[in-house]
Amino acid sequence: MLTNVIKPTHACNLACTYCYNEDDRTKRMSINTLESTIKNTCEYARAKNESGKVDFIWHGGEPMLVGLDFYKQAIKFQERYKKSLKFENVMQTNGTLIDSRWCDFFVEEKFHVSISIDGVKHVNDVTRINRKGEGSFDNVFEAIQLVKKYQIPLGVCLVLNKINVPHLDEIYDFLRDEQLNFNVIPMTNSGDAVASIGEIGLTPKEYAEGWIKLYDRWFYDERHGSILCSDFANKSAGVLGGRAMDCIGAKNCSMNTVSTDHNGYVYPCATMSPDPEWVYGNINDSSIKELMQSDNAQKALQRKTDEHCLECKWLNVCNGGCISRADKFFGTIDTRDYYCSGLYQIYEHIEGRLREVQDIDLECLPPKDFVDQRKAPTKRRIVSKNYERFSRDTTTTVLKFVDAASL
Ligand SMILES: C[S@@+](CC[C@H](N)C(=O)[O-])C[C@H]1O[C@@H](n2cnc3c(N)ncnc32)[C@H](O)[C@@H]1O
Ligand code: SF4
Ligand code: SF4
Repeated sequence: MLTNVIKPTHACNLACTYCYNEDDRTKRMSINTLESTIKNTCEYARAKNESGKVDFIWHGGEPMLVGLDFYKQAIKFQERYKKSLKFENVMQTNGTLIDSRWCDFFVEEKFHVSISIDGVKHVNDVTRINRKGEGSFDNVFEAIQLVKKYQIPLGVCLVLNKINVPHLDEIYDFLRDEQLNFNVIPMTNSGDAVASIGEIGLTPKEYAEGWIKLYDRWFYDERHGSILCSDFANKSAGVLGGRAMDCIGAKNCSMNTVSTDHNGYVYPCATMSPDPEWVYGNINDSSIKELMQSDNAQKALQRKTDEHCLECKWLNVCNGGCISRADKFFGTIDTRDYYCSGLYQIYEHIEGRLREVQDIDLECLPPKDFVDQRKAPTKRRIVSKNYERFSRDTTTTVLKFVDAASL
């Protein structure tokens, strides 16, 4: 599978206080660059696997600012170049521009929609604001209702920060009452976030405490299973399967993900765009296969393992954590994630919760001597058995597992 996170513009109609988006915010992607991006992405995906899958994640800036016609054209290019590939489109948006015209299009073209909202109104409207300082909640909540009415696959994305973490109970109730699947991410340190992270960013410990509070609400929720957090599902499945299930923990995340900006420049991921130190080259001039041979792509692919991680029980699941967060916080990818100690606490917590469940095979949980575990054939079989079970459909299986927790 290949994911291209495409930023058709860096422009935005909001000015969230922690936004990592930087660079000039005026330009938009030309139709020629759009075509090169889709053509090259499909060709590279096919070279990896004839009948593989490509995810196009539309991102930014605010991706909906480039207008509906841009996406109608994108669909035409996808149809022209996909051949035997399957593809999926995800609109990652602040939600403010969604109306029924867009919803008709999302339904027609089977888009998934991810809307950013940091919780309930009184916390969201502190950070997710426009240039006049006005909060975005009312507008975004209306968009969420519309997307739900159209039954478009929807998730919401929350950035955990000092403003919303004290209100996680209220936020969980809101998500559950509104039946919103969600994702949670901690702040990264670039763009406008550099100025605000000291004030509203979380320490690794605070991140873990917030994450765990939400996880436990979800885990013990009497209506568990009614909503899903992809980060909870991925990390739980990772712990149970003994290997990473998301890009944060993947050993070589840059093998399967690239991000293309409005000028056609390609980077390892959305949060490393538009850092000139990480540009692979331009999609208008080179194929992705060639770009993957660039010095920067090779550097990203050959991230060294931090010595601390080599000794860590969770190495197979976490692999040093997010490459971009290592870079943004410490100036190098060859070290571990800024949130390392929080991640460790999170994986330990998940293990504890998994051990409360009666009917799953727990032999696979990494024992203290994880090195031996990797050598032991019996345990490896168990790991792969669980992994297969989970990778078939992580979501459903984790929900089933959570169901089992209440037996
Ligand atoms: C950069 S925005 C671009 C797409 C769109 N404008 C939106 O807000 O969803 C993508 C996601 O990154 C999140 N984000 C922005 N700044 C961040 C930061 N410093 N750390 C972590 N996530 C951040 C946003 O909240 C949003 O969920
Ligand atoms: S997080 Fe999204 S909506 Fe907010 S300023 Fe950044 S790009 Fe705009
Ligand atoms: S939890 Fe920390 S030490 Fe362990 S693998 Fe992850 S980043 Fe490395």
